[in-house]
Amino acid sequence: MSIPHDKNNPFAAALVERRRLSAPNGQKETSHFSVSLKGSGLTYTCGDSLGVFPTNNPAAVNAFLKAARLTGDESVLIPKDTAPITLREAITRRLALNGPTYKFVQLLHDRATNAAEKAALAERIAEADPEKKKAWLAEREFIDLLEENPSANITAQEFTENFRKLMPRLYSISSSPAMYPDEIHLTVAVVRYETNGRSREGVCSTYLADRARMHQPDLPVFVANSHFGLPADDNIPVIMVGPGTGVAPFRSFVMDRATRGAKGPNWLFFGDQRRSADFLYESEWNEWQKSGVLTRLDLAFSRDQAQKIYVQDRMRENGAELWKWISAGAYFYVCGDAKRMAKDVDAALHEIIAQHGGMTPEAAIEFVKQLKKAERYQRDVY
Ligand SMILES: Cc1cc2nc3c(=O)[nH]c(=O)nc-3n(C[C@H](O)[C@H](O)[C@H](O)COP(=O)(O)OP(=O)(O)OC[C@H]3O[C@@H](n4cnc5c(N)ncnc54)[C@H](O)[C@@H]3O)c2cc1C
Ligand SMILES: NC(=O)c1ccc[n+]([C@@H]2O[C@H](COP(=O)([O-])OP(=O)(O)OC[C@H]3O[C@@H](n4cnc5c(N)ncnc54)[C@H](OP(=O)(O)O)[C@@H]3O)[C@@H](O)[C@H]2O)c1
Repeated sequence: MSIPHDKNNPFAAALVERRRLSAPNGQKETSHFSVSLKGSGLTYTCGDSLGVFPTNNPAAVNAFLKAARLTGDESVLIPKDTAPITLREAITRRLALNGPTYKFVQLLHDRATNAAEKAALAERIAEADPEKKKAWLAEREFIDLLEENPSANITAQEFTENFRKLMPRLYSISSSPAMYPDEIHLTVAVVRYETNGRSREGVCSTYLADRARMHQPDLPVFVANSHFGLPADDNIPVIMVGPGTGVAPFRSFVMDRATRGAKGPNWLFFGDQRRSADFLYESEWNEWQKSGVLTRLDLAFSRDQAQKIYVQDRMRENGAELWKWISAGAYFYVCGDAKRMAKDVDAALHEIIAQHGGMTPEAAIEFVKQLKKAERYQRDVY
């Protein structure tokens, strides 16, 4: 019998669809990917995530080797490995080319033979303001540090010991296993930005968007199970708050309930920058509204007017109805940005419960605690 596929034994899947969801004239690049599970023995449920092991961009690997004055043929041993591999293999598949630490800046300082470089690095290391110190390094990748400090000689093995491991990335699954038992869909924001005057790219999102080969069994993946998921009882109403890529698991939820003929009402709050560019899966929501599976759809396009409108504004506008659903036993789900959105949605939920449930703020806190305990308030935020 073959060994089951998991994080330690990923399945070499084939990418079978790659389609841009956001319009090319928008400010964001959000794409849909389909990964075939055929022959893997893998199964999934709504709310699970897919782990993807990316590789670094060969252009970034070559640029690093040039700046480091290395060929890539050097033999290196990754800490805790037993057999050496070439530096090129290590920085293509195993190690991250971003995220240098001050341990590496110190090594660069110690090896610098140019007095001005050494002094500038010493100043950075001695920076007393922790925020400034952190911000300076956050703007830089290894290549920046090498190009700004060309006098230091560092060996391939020393680099190997200073790189972080290249980790798999998780993506919320946006398909339903009832509809697609042998396929997993992903909804990915492709990360591209600029720091220190250079164009940067997110390793895994651009691997999927730009470099992963279509229809070749060479995308290493695993299914990460989650506590996030639909209620077992198909009659229970669900409220889903998923702006941006946070909508991914809710496409899975609604597709699943539609495919299985589940009768419970479904209410989605979706938001993104602009309706004309970022209304992800618009036609599918329209179809599900027409067929009655999607009971309510409330939209918040933040940049279509002078004043920002967010999903929590739509929640507040519909506070009385939302409270009715919660009182009737609805499950409340939030997915997407953890830093700002999930906190603000949580605050709005507390306010709505206090106002429409006629509770003190303290009682609303306790009510939400009980919702969480009963697994009726679930979050998948990142
Ligand atoms: C449970 C879970 C589910 C997830 N689901 C999804 C999903 O459905 N869809 C989705 O798109 N993502 C999802 N993510 C996020 C995903 O795992 C990756 O983190 C994301 O795709 C970025 O990975 P990357 O390799 O492309 O970028 P990385 O190479 O990891 O780079 C990202 C880093 O770049 C830096 N950065 C990014 N933007 C900027 C900027 N503007 N300025 C300065 N620095 C910046 C930040 O340091 C950031 O941490 C999920 C995460 C988790 C934990
Ligand atoms: N490279 C880029 O240009 C770019 C652009 C956007 C996102 N990203 C990154 O891509 C990743 C995923 O993005 P995503 O598609 O999931 O979501 P997102 O683009 O971060 O946000 C989706 C929607 O949520 C809104 N939003 C912002 N702050 C909010 C808050 N406090 N409460 C509620 N809604 C809020 C956004 O509005 P506003 O943005 O108008 O405030 C937008 O309309 C994130 O890590 C993000 O940082 C990159």
